[in-house]
Formats: sequence, C-alpha cells, structure tokens
Amino acid sequence: LMNNLQKEGSTNLRQENCRAKGGSPGFKVAILGAAGGIGQPLAMLMKMNPLVSVLHLYDVVNTPGVTADISHMDTGAVVHGFLGQQQLEDALTGMDLVIIPAGVPRKPGMTRDDLFNINAGIVRTLCEGISKCCPKAIVNLISNPVNSTVPIAAEVFKRAGTYDPRRLLGVTMLDVVRANTFVAEVLGLDPRDIDVPVVGGHAGVTILPLLSQVKPPCSFTQEETEYLTSRIQNGGTEVVEAKAGAGSATLSMAYAAVKFADACLHALRGDAGVIQCAFVSSQVTELPFFASRVRLGRNGVEEIYPLGPLNEYERVGLEKAKKELGGSIEKGVSFTTGSS
Ligand code: NAD
Ligand code: LMR
Repeated sequence: LMNNLQKEGSTNLRQENCRAKGGSPGFKVAILGAAGGIGQPLAMLMKMNPLVSVLHLYDVVNTPGVTADISHMDTGAVVHGFLGQQQLEDALTGMDLVIIPAGVPRKPGMTRDDLFNINAGIVRTLCEGISKCCPKAIVNLISNPVNSTVPIAAEVFKRAGTYDPRRLLGVTMLDVVRANTFVAEVLGLDPRDIDVPVVGGHAGVTILPLLSQVKPPCSFTQEETEYLTSRIQNGGTEVVEAKAGAGSATLSMAYAAVKFADACLHALRGDAGVIQCAFVSSQVTELPFFASRVRLGRNGVEEIYPLGPLNEYERVGLEKAKKELGGSIEKGVSFTTGSS
C-alpha cells in the first residue's frame, strides 16, 4: 500500500490540500541545481522555512536521493523531486519563486568568467523554461558569472516577451554576509549587528563594499579600509583556494541564498520595509545592471536606492568596478542576441 501511495504521490497531494485549507501563507519554491554543493543545503534550509508550502527540487542528476532524504524532515513544506530536462516544465509550473544555483563552480586559478562557456547555456535553458511555465515567478539567480548570467536571463525573458525587470535578481547576498562578518571582526562587534552595503557586481573589483555607509556608523583607518575591501572582494577566492579543487563556497552561499530568498518571500507576502542588496536592472549608474540596495515588495524590486555619498576611495573603486562590469554585462547580452 505504501509503495502505491508513494508512486502515485497521493500522500503529498493530500498533504498539500490539507495545508492549503489551513490557510497558511505558503509559497511554492523551486530550486534548480538542487543536488549540488549549494543546492543540497539550500534545499534543506528552504524545507525549514515556514513561508514555503511546496518545494520543488530539480537537477539533471541525483534529485531522487536528495528529495527522499529531505522529504523526511517533519517541517511544513511538501517536497517533490524532478530529474532531467524532460521534467523541467513540471518542476517550474506554478512556482512563486525560483532559485538557481545550477552550473559548474570554480577551481583554484580560475576567474568566475572562466565559467561563462558552460554556465551561460545552462542558465539560458532554465530561463526558457521559466518563461514558459512560471513567467510571473521571482527569480533568484546564483549561477556564476552573475555579472553576465543576469543579463543572459534578461535577454531570454525579453525574447519570450515575459521580461519583468523587477522579478529578476542576481544574488549578491554572500558579499554582504562576508562584509558583515569581516567588518565585525575588525570592530570587535557581533556580525548580526552590522549592515554593510555592497554594490556593483559579483566578481573581483566589481564587488564594492561601501564602508563609509556601514551601520551602525563607524570609521576605519586607511589600512583597515584597504584590508576589508580586498578581503570582501576576494572572499570567494579565499574559499576556492582553501577547498583546493573541491569547489567553491557552498554552505555560506546556501545560508546567504536562504537569507535572500526569505526576504523575497516576506516581500511577496506583503511585509513592508524589506531592503537587501541585489544585482538588478538599474538606472543607478549608466550601466544597465548594477547591484545596490533595493526595496522588495509583492512584485519583486519596488524601489532601487541611489548609492548615497561615497568617499574618495569608493569613488575610485566605483570607476574600476564599472569598467569591468560593463564588459561582463555586454558579454552576457551578446551571448543571447548573437545566437538564434
Ligand atoms: P556544484 O557543481 O556542486 O552543483 C551544481 C549543480 O548544478 C549540480 O548538481 C549539477 O548537476 C547541476 N546542474 C548542472 N547542469 C544543470 C542543468 N542544466 N540544469 C539543472 N542543474 C544542473 O556547484 P555549486 O558549488 O553548487 O555552485 C553552483 C554555481 O553557483 C556555480 O556556478 C558557482 O560559481 C555559483 N556560486 C555563486 C555564488 C554567488 O554568490 N552568487 C556563490 C557560490 C557559488
Ligand atoms: C563566491 O563568491 O563564493 C562565489 O561567487 C563562488 C566563487 O567562484 O568564488
């Protein structure tokens, strides 16, 4: 009997109906790349999120095992697994939020841009599926190089006629998480009390922490500023080197992704004052995409805040960041427009 029930998925359906009647404000969330280094802990943490009622786990390998494992957690969300491209559409249909950590990670000696050739095509395929099956979903894009994959996603959505710039967000939360941690270390404070805006993009010098705008207000020596800026910009490489060929940040990234996804879900629910940094379509600079503080609401990005007053060190950093970022954005745009 159990086998039949499991095969038909009828236990899950009954659970979903029962929870829907309970009136819980549950959202439907899909993770694409759910069996990976980020995907697995991210799936576990999303299964623990009380705002999630249905969790879809999609990957091209190993989703049955990850799904069986996570589905035994006695939390509210009902979990379904999807394996291989023929199940992508089922994975996406009806989703409110789609989180994408699919794609290859760096090894020592590589830049994030070295991942472009493989990850660009993966992101394109996944976004074509989103256009078709859940064009209104909020998309949290994690796959690197974020500076190029977000423009790729935008072009795919434009071509499909479904593009809503408010709903496409490149996840730069890990830069903020790192910045909060490293600044707290220098100041001897609790990282939970620190908020560092990090703007620009998500690679090397495009990652621009605004240390002059740290909350609570504090000041740094020139030496501290240089140390912190460099450590935040190279945080990803620090992990890649420590893992010595076994991949890049996965656990801190899953934590950051959940922090960001949770903010998106609170905003979708209608909570006021949800503000996070993200890499989005923007008019804050002359570039078409830029990471800065944004206010999230029921439609995704409701308001993009200007950069605020920068000191001389940050103004120089901003020029460097824009130069590199412009090229990465262009590369993403032409990947899609250059192909049929
Ligand atoms: P991983 O190799 O451990 O996992 C990636 C998963 O993607 C694998 O399970 C793989 O099967 C899956 N995948 C590959 N092609 C797919 C496809 N077409 N459809 C669905 N799934 C597919 O890598 P990881 O460590 O989890 O990193 C994933 C990505 O996230 C990398 O590109 C990495 O650079 C990036 N990343 C971004 C940030 C950020 O701050 N934005 C932080 C860390 C890592
Ligand atoms: C990170 O910042 O940790 C990620 O972008 C992964 C990487 O390649 O550094």
